[in-house]
Order: sequence, then C-alpha cells, then structure tokens
Amino acid sequence: MKICYDNCEQPKYGLTFEGAFHGRTLGALSLNRSKSVHRRDFPELSGIHDVPHSMAGVERLREKLDPDHGHIPPEQVAFLILEPVQGEGGYRVPDAEFMSAVNDLCTEHDIPLIADEIQSGVGRTGEMWASDHFDFEPDVITSAKALRVGATISRSELFPDEKARISSTWGAGDILSSIQGSLTLAAIDEHDLLDHADRQGKGLLDRLAPLQDEYQALEDVRGLGLMAAVEFETPDQREAVMEAALERGLLTLGCGKKTLRLLPPLDVRDRELDIAVELLDEAIASVSRTATV
Ligand SMILES: Cc1ncc(COP(=O)(O)O)c(C=O)c1O
Repeated sequence: MKICYDNCEQPKYGLTFEGAFHGRTLGALSLNRSKSVHRRDFPELSGIHDVPHSMAGVERLREKLDPDHGHIPPEQVAFLILEPVQGEGGYRVPDAEFMSAVNDLCTEHDIPLIADEIQSGVGRTGEMWASDHFDFEPDVITSAKALRVGATISRSELFPDEKARISSTWGAGDILSSIQGSLTLAAIDEHDLLDHADRQGKGLLDRLAPLQDEYQALEDVRGLGLMAAVEFETPDQREAVMEAALERGLLTLGCGKKTLRLLPPLDVRDRELDIAVELLDEAIASVSRTATV
C-alpha cells in the first residue's frame, strides 16, 4: 500500500472487494471486508471504496471511475487490491472473466494492481502465484506464509527511489526465515511441486465432490489447486464438522461464514488425501446423525 501511495501524485483513494481480508496490521485493516472482529473500533484509512466480488462489482467500479459521471477521479486512486482467490472471506475462486475485467479496468485507468498472494501464493494453487491462472498482471505482489518470511514484490518503476522510505529494521526479514523461504522455493523447483499441487488439488476436489451428493448439509465443494473448501448450509454445521474432524485427527480451518477449508502441504500424497477425505466423510456423517444438523 505504501509503495502505491508513494507512486500516486494525489493519493486519495484505494479500492477493495467485499469479502476481502488483507491482514491485521493497522493500514491493512481498512481494506478488510470479511469478519468484523478484525476491524472493529480501530481507526481507518480514508478513501477506501469497496464493491462486490463479481462482474456486477466491476461494473460498479467502472461507473465510479467514469471520468464524466463517476465520483472517483482515477488519477487519485493509489491502488486496487485483491486476493486472486479470497481466503478468509470463504475460499471464493473468481471466474476468468471477472479477473480479466478487473485487469482491463485497471490498465485502462492506469491504476496499480496489488495481488495479495499471502495465502494463495508460492505454489498453493498449482501455479507460483494464483494470479498466474488468470489474464491478470499485478504491479505489486504480497507474499508470506509459505515463503516463511514476508516479502513485497513490485515493479521497479513503482518502487520509491528514496532509500529507507518503506522499511528499515525488518526490511530483510529474519535470516533463518529467509533461508527457509529460499530453500522452499528451491524445493518447489527441484521436486516439481507446482505440477504436483495442481494434480493433487484436482484429485482432492474429485474426492470431495461425491460428498456433496451424499450429504444435504453440503452446499458446495470448490477450490483451486490445494486451496480446497466445502461449504455447509449453516455455520453450526461447519463448526460441528470441524470439531468431529479434529476428534478423528483431521485438522481443518473455517473461513467465510459456513465454509471449511482444507490446506494440505504441497507434497501431499494420494494416501494422505484418501485418509483426509475419509475422515471428513466420517465427521460429516457423525454430525448428520445428531440433532445439530
Ligand atoms: C490474504 C491474506 N493477506 C494477509 C494476511 C496476513 O494477516 P496478518 O496480518 O494477520 O498476519 C493473511 C493471513 O491470513 C491473508 O490470508
């Protein structure tokens, strides 16, 4: 965000999407449109506009930015930020049309695009960046989690020339984490983990799909690569299944209001996927037999 604000001559606005989550640091909080618990009662950055995470949202943006009838001058927009696959908001995988419409709109108005790849990047979806699945060219990419260390990547023409303008003490991260990150990148390359994650991700979705026919409580199965999720009809069902899964030794995580996510490691094997889906199946069956569902 600071790179983009610094690059804009009159930085007044930033654009984000409904369902977004960009972290818990004070500035990033203003971009969040998922759970209220993160944002509540903290001061906000001014000028952040949000639109729905859909083609209708892109149309709204187009209207807002229209030089004749809109109310946001495009030259005052420092950035548009999005997660190429929304994480905390509920594992929402966008369609290709949406991503290219966002990309085109930003190119048309010369608005820098930030891809928050903190959850979706570094091989998780079967490409190095989830953005690579789409016709989508970010100007700034944020990365962390799988990289073991936080890193922000930007086109050099956007990056401030002035030394120490963005960060200092933690600018290079922690040395041990940086080594872990660099070894992670080398391992992804050496063991062909992008192809593996792509293949195993498809295998995981194929294994999960029959559950949707089997259980009425399951509303949707979706994902990209090894970001996989199942959505229930109610938050209570999701909570009960997460608990029943944990009792059986399967660790899952909630996202959105009633979605459960599965994030196996990039080197996950068939046997582990078989066991995971079997345990999840058992967990859903056990919950379906009780009064909560
Ligand atoms: C998309 C995304 N951005 C940013 C973050 C960083 O969050 P935090 O600031 O809480 O570490 C996360 C963590 O889950 C994330 O999923």
